[in-house]
Amino acid sequence: MPDKRPSPDLAGPLPVAVLISGRGSNLKALIAGQADWPYRVVVAISSAADAPGLELARAAGIAAEVLESKSFADRDEYDRALATLIDRYAPGLVALAGFMRILTPALVERYAGRMLNIHPSLLPRHRGLHTHRRVLEAGEREHGATVHFVTAELDGGPRILQARVPVLAHDDAQTLAARVLVEEHRIYPLAVGWMATGRLRLGADGRPELDGVPLDTPLDPDAR
Ligand code: GAR
Repeated sequence: MPDKRPSPDLAGPLPVAVLISGRGSNLKALIAGQADWPYRVVVAISSAADAPGLELARAAGIAAEVLESKSFADRDEYDRALATLIDRYAPGLVALAGFMRILTPALVERYAGRMLNIHPSLLPRHRGLHTHRRVLEAGEREHGATVHFVTAELDGGPRILQARVPVLAHDDAQTLAARVLVEEHRIYPLAVGWMATGRLRLGADGRPELDGVPLDTPLDPDAR
């Protein structure tokens, strides 16, 4: 179904649902970003009941919901329940923030052009897990984070923003992850803010558009 919402500027702050599975530092950055951009995190939904991010949401006065997979027969059933839960909050945007589940094509399709993800690598390099370790093992000199629209291809949707960091001589996976995380917290609120101001959208040809200009390569936040 095409998105029939009026333009965000006319509709007031963009309601955002944030999906998490753990720590919630990107959720925290998105909550902080509300001070600078016309969006509001209306709910944090976690796939794990013990996710520390849930407490962050509650402390900010944001609804915190848990949907664990153990009560569902399969992925389709879980994702149907997830869509029902998300839609209860009527978000204009769904932001995956460390949501460690593979989504069904039906769920992805439902939020086409309205679902973003952040991934700790310079996509298309290093999709999936353990990106920091894999960058070190490959002897790469740079690493980073990417915000992209979500499609059915895991970590494969159209890329919007990409921030780079150097890999330093004495890095281990933890020091490298920490350097990347700083960038994650910078670029995710920026991308959500652009959605909220109507500057960013997924074009009909599948490319992201910023201010009506299609992006063939992801933007570097430092080049702006
Ligand atoms: C973040 O590094 C995020 O990029 C990553 O999980 C971490 C969640 O941390 N996401 C993925 O790997 C998705 N493929 P957080 O809970 O502190 O935001």
